[in-house]
Amino acid sequence: MLCSDGTKKLSFGGSIKDGDLVIVYEKRDVMKAVKVSETSVLQNRFGVFKHSDWIGKPFGSKVLSNKGGFVYLLAPTPELWTLVLSHRTQILYIADISFLITYLEIVPGSLVLESGTGSGSLTTSLARAVAPTGHVYTFDFHQQRAASAREDFQSTGVDSLVTVGVRDIQGEGFPDEYSGLADSVFLDLPQPWLAIPSAGKMLKQDGTLCSFSPCIEQVQRTCEALKSNFRDIRTFEVLLRTFEVHEGKIDSCQGEEGLSVRSPPCKRRHRSSEGSTMQDSSSSPTIKVRPCADARGHTGYLTFSRLQCLS
Ligand SMILES: C[S@@+](CC[C@H](N)C(=O)[O-])C[C@H]1O[C@@H](n2cnc3c(N)ncnc32)[C@H](O)[C@@H]1O
Repeated sequence: MLCSDGTKKLSFGGSIKDGDLVIVYEKRDVMKAVKVSETSVLQNRFGVFKHSDWIGKPFGSKVLSNKGGFVYLLAPTPELWTLVLSHRTQILYIADISFLITYLEIVPGSLVLESGTGSGSLTTSLARAVAPTGHVYTFDFHQQRAASAREDFQSTGVDSLVTVGVRDIQGEGFPDEYSGLADSVFLDLPQPWLAIPSAGKMLKQDGTLCSFSPCIEQVQRTCEALKSNFRDIRTFEVLLRTFEVHEGKIDSCQGEEGLSVRSPPCKRRHRSSEGSTMQDSSSSPTIKVRPCADARGHTGYLTFSRLQCLS
């Protein structure tokens, strides 16, 4: 369980306990979240795994099935959680998340307002970024989504850092009690321009705002709304290019497009990290690096701005 109280470091340093959430890792694209229960078993193509064998082991452990198959038990970090959570809505992924947390200057102790909560993918990372002394107040007008998000935040151990409210932010704005207190506001709403006047009221002087929208027409309307009392308006599209790295054998020096070739057929001398020289052999395995065919393309646009200072 993520340790998130103000006196301790936010970490998964301890061992796995009954009731903890673990990410069961078979391979990079086969993972799932499992709640540990002393009397339960996990069954997959590698056999039957008893949860009772997992309790007391450190996160990251390799555990065996009755047939000698294995999986790894990983901690539910925000990065892994984003990959396994149940999609109740479109979600934000780590390329956008990491960029926006940095660009909004969210740090431990920050107070962040967010709407909509959606599946809580971003909220989980925001919570870790503000821990141990900050807080995220997130709002969604969909009652059931808000309830499911609350349950998830409890499972992932960030519930003490997040408060989920049910509210129509486009219609009513953020609650007045946060006026002038927010370091940052994040919007992932269909008509974010309707929430901009309220976001301006919530922010501290020099506070930062970001709005995520999939369509450029939404960006244009948002920028129009920002012009009156925000400055430094900038829009980004974060495109991530993913490469596969694996071991294989190749026959010649001839490189395929996007393929990095380490061992040519002829012998070549190169320096090891210690500074001595090593010989490559043509029969040794080669590391192949090539762009993934299924890499994610456009997700959306991130529009940032900063509240205009009064003087
Ligand atoms: C795309 S999802 C947000 C996904 C979220 N950023 C994530 O990473 O999981 C948009 C959410 O906004 C909520 N929403 C739409 N209009 C709203 C409004 N007027 N007030 C509050 N929430 C709203 C929807 O119910 C939906 O859950």
